[in-house]
Amino acid sequence: MKKISKIHLKKIFKREIKFLINGITDISNPYHFFYLSTKTKKNIVSRTIVLRNLDENPLAIYFNADYRSPKVKQLISNNLCSVLFYDNKRKIQLRANCEAFINYNNNISKKIWIKTPLQSRKCYMGKYAPSINLKEWHPNIPIEYLKKDPQKKDSESGYDNFTVVKIIINNLDILELHHDGHIRFNVDSDKNFTFVAP
Ligand SMILES: Cc1cc2nc3c(=O)[nH]c(=O)nc-3n(C[C@H](O)[C@H](O)[C@H](O)COP(=O)(O)O)c2cc1C
Repeated sequence: MKKISKIHLKKIFKREIKFLINGITDISNPYHFFYLSTKTKKNIVSRTIVLRNLDENPLAIYFNADYRSPKVKQLISNNLCSVLFYDNKRKIQLRANCEAFINYNNNISKKIWIKTPLQSRKCYMGKYAPSINLKEWHPNIPIEYLKKDPQKKDSESGYDNFTVVKIIINNLDILELHHDGHIRFNVDSDKNFTFVAP
């Protein structure tokens, strides 16, 4: 039987942080996307999200969203959430219990907005709040910008709806699948490593 030590777990953790950092810019890395689950009064809701940034200490990830969207409203009323990543090639799952913080109209949202390309800015210029029901199809970006990007000056109106969500990872569960015995462990916010039954 193979022997797995805590040193091995720390190596896996460090390697996965590197993969996450790569996933910020590398769209072919499965960690470029993750699934975020939030709580409403009645349900749990999950959706796909693009990973935009990562802080190592304390461990946190960032994504962009429309301030009017249900996910942002849900996180404002209950900031506890869960995130899930899966790399099917390497057979690794990351699952985390998290706390979200909404950056709206502050230094952080401004800094990211300035770097947001015009093509992405138009996603925040829709007249409807995301996820509301419509009587008929509408792309929810200004029709004049369906096939071209807005002028920079016009695009600034999107900032009214732009948020950067910071998700602090309090507890990370790492599962690595192997034919000769899966490896699973937990990393808490103080970077304590605990073996977990796979
Ligand atoms: C590949 C992919 C990436 C997405 N990335 C984001 C994202 O980074 N931020 C976001 O707010 N919504 C993103 N979405 C849309 C959400 O999954 C969701 O459908 C939408 O934001 C409405 O979510 P809500 O009603 O739960 O707020 C993405 C969808 C897909 C399919």
